[in-house]
Amino acid sequence: MKITRLNHAQITIPKGAEAQGRTFYCDILGLQEVEKPDALKGRGGFWLEVGDMQVHIGTEDGVDRATTKAHLAYQVDDLASWQKHIENQNIEIGDSVPIPGYERFEIRDPFGNRVEFIQPVADNALQQQIDYYRARAGEYDEWFYRMGRYDHGKALNQQWFDEAKQVMEMLHQIAMVDEALELACGTGIWTEQLLKIARHITALDASPEVIAINRQKLAAANIDYQQVDLFQWQPERGYDLVLFGFWLSHVPPEKLDSFLASVSQAVKPGGKLFIVDSQPAGTSSASNHQPYEAESIRHVRKLNDGREFTIYKIFYEPASLREKLASFGFDADVRVTDNYFVYTTATKL
Ligand SMILES: C[S@@+](CC[C@H](N)C(=O)[O-])C[C@H]1O[C@@H](n2cnc3c(N)ncnc32)[C@H](O)[C@@H]1O
Repeated sequence: MKITRLNHAQITIPKGAEAQGRTFYCDILGLQEVEKPDALKGRGGFWLEVGDMQVHIGTEDGVDRATTKAHLAYQVDDLASWQKHIENQNIEIGDSVPIPGYERFEIRDPFGNRVEFIQPVADNALQQQIDYYRARAGEYDEWFYRMGRYDHGKALNQQWFDEAKQVMEMLHQIAMVDEALELACGTGIWTEQLLKIARHITALDASPEVIAINRQKLAAANIDYQQVDLFQWQPERGYDLVLFGFWLSHVPPEKLDSFLASVSQAVKPGGKLFIVDSQPAGTSSASNHQPYEAESIRHVRKLNDGREFTIYKIFYEPASLREKLASFGFDADVRVTDNYFVYTTATKL
């Protein structure tokens, strides 16, 4: 035995105020009136349809509606337009205490009933991804160096380091370049490798915290750091080499083409692109993270203090990545290591 859902709510207006009530609720708020059952017709008031529920407007006198906090909250799809619409009716907008996940404002109807307009804030997945790496900056390197929750035992750790070395050796085969660009540079794991083959590096990341760690760790005068959101980024010039490590897997599918178009613009003709990313090996992530699910493009990540964030994590097969890069003007050599990494050296045609 349980209550399954809310069927309707009732508010009241003064007796005989139905016309004014209909002007407010039906004309201004645009709610549809539904017919009351015959048995209740003589009692005054009217009923409204709100989504798949009803609001019943009854009549009663002798109550001061303006003194109560009791209210109905109407969920809307475009809060800003609603606020403008309400202001255009010369109705005063009241203060609402902010609550996480929602935007809202409130008014009083012509009889003093409190009326709230509320809209859930869109799921801001890309901001959450930035927030995650900002919060994780100080513990980020534990992942690559297989410490704490990322320590999967001597044998698997060694396997990881051997495979990482294999990828780094491939990077070092690129002949010395003048100008390199690193996207999502993080705490400097790949910036350090890039320094060995580039005379100058421009390093971009959205997180000031990881940039500070990278800068302090490498202390190199030939690296320019810029705090940039890569989903707003447009390259200002061409580079001899562009590198991004463990970033492609965080680009959501609907942003992939525009991101790769910018990457393509950023590599000079004849220039190189180097990408390294993960294969979906369970032991590449922390021991207290859920395993990757084949169908899912999102993954829940935890910080050492237990805070959780949901980020994009998309894995690429060599053949499809090669084909994708070809459509952006790259001749790509895409390889995998035995367990952990997928890596690419590509030339811009
Ligand atoms: C998995 S880490 C990779 C860092 C580094 N490349 C490495 O391999 O260690 C992803 C990086 O992307 C950065 N990031 C997240 N969202 C971003 C965005 N919208 N624009 C630029 N960087 C972003 C994070 O701050 C983080 O440093």
